[in-house]
Amino acid sequence: MKGIVLAGGTGSRMHPMTRVVSKQLLPVYDKPLVYYPLTTLMLAGIRDILVITTPREQALFRELLGDGGDWGIRIEYAAQPKPEGIAQSFLIGRDFVAGDHVTLILGDNLFYGDAIGGMLKRAGEVATGATVFAYAVSDPERYGVVAFEPDGRPKAIVEKPKVAPSVFAVTGLYVYDGEVCDIAAILKPSARGELEITDLNNVYLARGTLRVEKLGRGFAWLDTGTPESLVQAADFVATIESRQGFKIGAPEEVAWRMGYIDTAQLGRLAERMKNSSYGRYLARLPTME
Ligand code: TTP
Repeated sequence: MKGIVLAGGTGSRMHPMTRVVSKQLLPVYDKPLVYYPLTTLMLAGIRDILVITTPREQALFRELLGDGGDWGIRIEYAAQPKPEGIAQSFLIGRDFVAGDHVTLILGDNLFYGDAIGGMLKRAGEVATGATVFAYAVSDPERYGVVAFEPDGRPKAIVEKPKVAPSVFAVTGLYVYDGEVCDIAAILKPSARGELEITDLNNVYLARGTLRVEKLGRGFAWLDTGTPESLVQAADFVATIESRQGFKIGAPEEVAWRMGYIDTAQLGRLAERMKNSSYGRYLARLPTME
């Protein structure tokens, strides 16, 4: 299973904050936003990851994340010249995907919940088709929304409907079989000039191979596209972290828990950041069980 983090875009809803720096590099409480989607992939056992960025900001992402070696994973980079749609990930990432199964996560999506790694792993083990994850929200009109048949099967995904057919929004986390790059290649740009992920998912749906997994209320799904939602995400992370004493979305910790790195390597990574509470947390981890 390969993984893609899509971390380009214009971030225009966050201007001027994102005029000179990508939204996904902004902090969410104590770490850069991109750490959260990256660790979601790592928790699913994905160690081969492509990070797609704007051309201008690629160097910054490289500086922050490196080649993944420190965390026992492999990170490659590609640029999206213009934000021409989420489904463009599979044209840009075609060589990287190389016909494997692939999980795509949007660089500004934060998932929290015990079972997320296992759910993703299971979705990746299905031989053919695609899995999307739906989440009940109070404002479904802002998203791709799933319409269901009376028997619960998905009937259609409707992008930003005026009247939402359900409260279930499609989240920014998608698992595909090896055909996804070929399907993306036949998509036509929408009226807003983008290769739409909803169109791609609807191809799978028409073939009868789209699964919609509902994420229950025990999960948190936050997207961080506006100043308000960025603060909400930071508040959420700060609340959970201070209550539990454990961090959400720390790649060093996830790498260590998943067995990608050993305790000695965790110690070296902690040492580099020993002036921050983050570094001291990493140093303490092996004694916290
Ligand atoms: P959006 O929130 O739809 O777009 P954006 O981040 O450019 O922000 P705005 O609407 O404020 O201008 O994108 C969702 C995520 O997907 C986000 O992490 C950026 C990423 N993205 C790309 O990298 N390339 C694209 O072509 C699109 C459409 C999104």
